[in-house]
Amino acid sequence: MQQADQRSGEKRAIRGALLTFHQDPFLLPIAECYSYLADAIIVMEEGIITAVGPADQLLPTLENIAITHYRDHLILPGFIDSHVHYPQTEIIASYGEQLIDWLNQYTFIAEQKFRDRSYADQVAKRFLKEQHRNGVTASTIFCTVFPESVEAIFTEAARHNMRIMAGKVCMDRNAPEALLDTAQSAYDESKALIEKWHGKGRAEYVITPRFAPTSTVEQLEMVGALAAEYPDTLIQSHISENLDEIEWVRSLFPKARDYADVYDQYGLLRDRAIYGHGVHLTERELSILHERGAAVAHCPTSNFFLGSGAFNLQAAKGEGRAIKVGLGTDLGAGTSFSILQTMNEAYKAAQLNGAPYSSLHAFYLATRGTAEALNLETKIGAVAVGMEADLAILDLKSTPIIEYRMQYADSLEEALFIQMMMGDDRAIAATYIAGEPVYTA
Ligand code: GUN
Ligand code: ZN
Repeated sequence: MQQADQRSGEKRAIRGALLTFHQDPFLLPIAECYSYLADAIIVMEEGIITAVGPADQLLPTLENIAITHYRDHLILPGFIDSHVHYPQTEIIASYGEQLIDWLNQYTFIAEQKFRDRSYADQVAKRFLKEQHRNGVTASTIFCTVFPESVEAIFTEAARHNMRIMAGKVCMDRNAPEALLDTAQSAYDESKALIEKWHGKGRAEYVITPRFAPTSTVEQLEMVGALAAEYPDTLIQSHISENLDEIEWVRSLFPKARDYADVYDQYGLLRDRAIYGHGVHLTERELSILHERGAAVAHCPTSNFFLGSGAFNLQAAKGEGRAIKVGLGTDLGAGTSFSILQTMNEAYKAAQLNGAPYSSLHAFYLATRGTAEALNLETKIGAVAVGMEADLAILDLKSTPIIEYRMQYADSLEEALFIQMMMGDDRAIAATYIAGEPVYTA
């Protein structure tokens, strides 16, 4: 399948079919949004893509460079997970509850272990290894209330030179005492972590109030002040995931117009702010997210697992007020590290809303779309000269039944659809981060 010729460790090239997006197909005709090359070469140097093009054109220029040839494979920009909780790795597939009971019975128990740095280190290692097995090359991560848990994931990601966005969860009410910070300590600890990690290598800090119900007004004010001090940091939280949660927010913030208004009042809706779920957002909320430039992380495996509902992507991309949408696994409420499986479930959510979308739309969402939702599209999410060299290589025949089904595929769209419906971690042949292979099947 692949023949590596390792004459030079410095510069590296790979060869295979290539698919990459440069525009949003939810806003423009699909044909204008992507490039597909049946036989491409990608050259990587010091973590950056330095050449991309048809193999027959580039080959003559690459006489002294190692080329790894992925025959019958598809090269993609690395997948991006826009919303994931690494401390919940051990509670994936915890039975039987919806959001609030699930948080109390499973999540808030597991997260208490992360005050112990060595435990956090161990989970961070396992978590990132699993992401690499799934072709995930960048992610936006919730840690726990303990700064140790943030240190653990940034430290482990730096070992792989991985682009990682992460933050300390802020919560000062409605959770077990052992998991609470205060308005002041949330501000102080988050600020210290920003100073230490934001912009260090490929790390970016994310200001992370867990969600409105677990922060007092004082804490939201402090977190909003911190966000204003650091206008280029990301912000992440949850919004409008579950109907009981929405009622709870209404009773805790009776003066707010709606859930989005709670965050808006504290300056937390802006460009580079991304909110998980948004399953039940109203027209007014979608409009205010659009106006403020905030994004939604669509997490379908989680939404179906917790019985939260089916996010309406078509409504989110509404004409004249489209919002940025990324894909997220939301582990451990999400049930798979696989972005292919996340696309599969996102397709089903779209079906339930009466608006199925094409496989090309799904692959855009998982790569360039998620990069746009994080305002990272100048760095990651596409394969082009100058972009960071994060790649996922898909084996298009990863199981006997996929291999069989692929014999009957006669278009790119159909082949991609088969991959996203039937593929999983087994479809990932290799993962490159900053030009280096971090995983090979
Ligand atoms: N809302 C607040 N915290 C969480 C969490 O950990 N997971 C999910 N799915 N929703 C949340
Ligand atoms: Zn979440």
